[in-house]
Amino acid sequence: MSDSRPVGILDSGVGGLSVTREIARQLPHENLLYVADQAHIPYGPRPLDEIRAFSQAIARFLLDQQAKAIVIACNTASAAALHTLRAHFPDIPIVGMEPAVKPAAEHSRARRIGVIATPATFQGQLFASLVERFAQDVQVLTQVCPGLVEQVEAGDLDGPHTEALLHTYLDPLVAAGIDTLVLGCTHYPFLMSAISRIVGPQVEVIDPSPAVARQTGRVLAARGWENTTDALGHHVLCTTGDVAAFAALVQRLTGLPGVVRGLTWQNGALELVEAQ
Ligand code: DGL
Repeated sequence: MSDSRPVGILDSGVGGLSVTREIARQLPHENLLYVADQAHIPYGPRPLDEIRAFSQAIARFLLDQQAKAIVIACNTASAAALHTLRAHFPDIPIVGMEPAVKPAAEHSRARRIGVIATPATFQGQLFASLVERFAQDVQVLTQVCPGLVEQVEAGDLDGPHTEALLHTYLDPLVAAGIDTLVLGCTHYPFLMSAISRIVGPQVEVIDPSPAVARQTGRVLAARGWENTTDALGHHVLCTTGDVAAFAALVQRLTGLPGVVRGLTWQNGALELVEAQ
């Protein structure tokens, strides 16, 4: 039987749209409900328990809107909240994200990989266990990138300031001899062309979005929860920030057709703002 309930997707801002466009490409018949918590962006420098509380409230909202699965399209929120969310909502498949250390370690011939992500992603237990499990014999160089998320949120994907920040963060990794770079934050794929140009053709850049979309398809298929209609999925994209600015950025970054809605935080819970 066809299941038209939406797939819920969350991020602190527009970063998770890099995952959403892949899900829309691979699973075109699924209805999608996206939440960008732009009122609290960036998540990366915040304490893990604060990020966990935001993520839990967003998941609660998505489930109230009948989401059949949740994709945490944010490495930071996954590091802080994936285990807690799975424990709280055991009947709902929850797809999390982790920096793609495993494929990078398998791929690297230099045995030296770079990972760029937010401070919270590196602090979480998830990252430590990834390195321990999959990168024992590989040197893993980690780099936080303050300011980069803000540049993407401002729609500045290749201006001089963005370019200067990228050089600051990436040049030392290239100089240290990495041959593989993991994009450990969902905002960064929107900077792919600038990043590829700066690291050069000898460095493979890994964007995990296609793998996350495939995993989303697998968890739906495993439960027989796919939307088997012939119609294209309907996309609703919500933000706790400025609705008009978000709508413009969604169009620019993804071209995804969809309805954009505003959300507000009320006593730690999310509420839809009535459409004007
Ligand atoms: N997009 C998020 C991630 O994948 C984090 C951005 C932020 O710091 O809010 O980590």
